[in-house]
Amino acid sequence: MISRLDGIAWPVRTERLSLRQATNDDAEATWNYRRLEVVSQWLTRSSPKLEDYREQFEDPERLAKTLVIELDGVVIGDLMVAFEDAWAQAEVAEQAEGVQAELGYVLHPDHAGRGYASEAVRELLRLCFEELGLRRVTANCFAANEASWRLMERLGMRRELYTVKESLHRSGEWLDGMGYALLADEWRSTRSNAASVGVQP
Ligand SMILES: CC(C)(COP(=O)(O)OP(=O)(O)OC[C@H]1O[C@@H](n2cnc3c(N)ncnc32)[C@H](O)[C@@H]1OP(=O)(O)O)[C@@H](O)C(=O)NCCC(=O)NCCS
Repeated sequence: MISRLDGIAWPVRTERLSLRQATNDDAEATWNYRRLEVVSQWLTRSSPKLEDYREQFEDPERLAKTLVIELDGVVIGDLMVAFEDAWAQAEVAEQAEGVQAELGYVLHPDHAGRGYASEAVRELLRLCFEELGLRRVTANCFAANEASWRLMERLGMRRELYTVKESLHRSGEWLDGMGYALLADEWRSTRSNAASVGVQP
């Protein structure tokens, strides 16, 4: 399946990590952390069985929007880039096609707390805006998922949405949700401000 991500020269390296497109061979490595309760409690689907997970992971549509994060050649997390159309009025709808993306991120808990997720998602934002030419990226989480919204805020994303008890968790509880976004212009101005005071953007 052809993906817009195919146009990027993978792997993309950051200071400590390497990002590349996921393949069928990454199913088990990603399941190893996605099956853990501490991780799956926040994910759309819990995957206790590897066979079930593999089937979902290998779906070409899912693979086409999945990247893996490697540290010294070992998969320690994964990222999602789901391209979307912006809402638009009918006469201008064509101009709004594929101009934005929803991002997702998961890190093996053994590697949490060292800035790896921030490093990977920061690079993903750069790829989205600089290489893919997107105008807006978004990400959503349960409000109770503090690690997730703290990550978005660390990266300069802007909270746009706080929803009250609108998402049903598999525990049976209706939970609050949060939505964040970042525009290409905001990203560019954050980077130029950081560069002008000598901080690594
Ligand atoms: C969301 C998630 C990726 C965040 O992981 P994380 O480890 O908190 O994020 P980072 O890897 O960027 O690490 C940041 C932490 O490392 C610290 N850190 C250490 N070195 C750092 C560095 N060089 N750069 C940045 N932060 C650093 C930060 O201070 C921060 O710690 P704090 O949370 O105590 O303030 C992770 O919790 C996760 O995978 N959760 C389960 C899946 C999930 O919820 N996904 C999102 C669904 S919406």
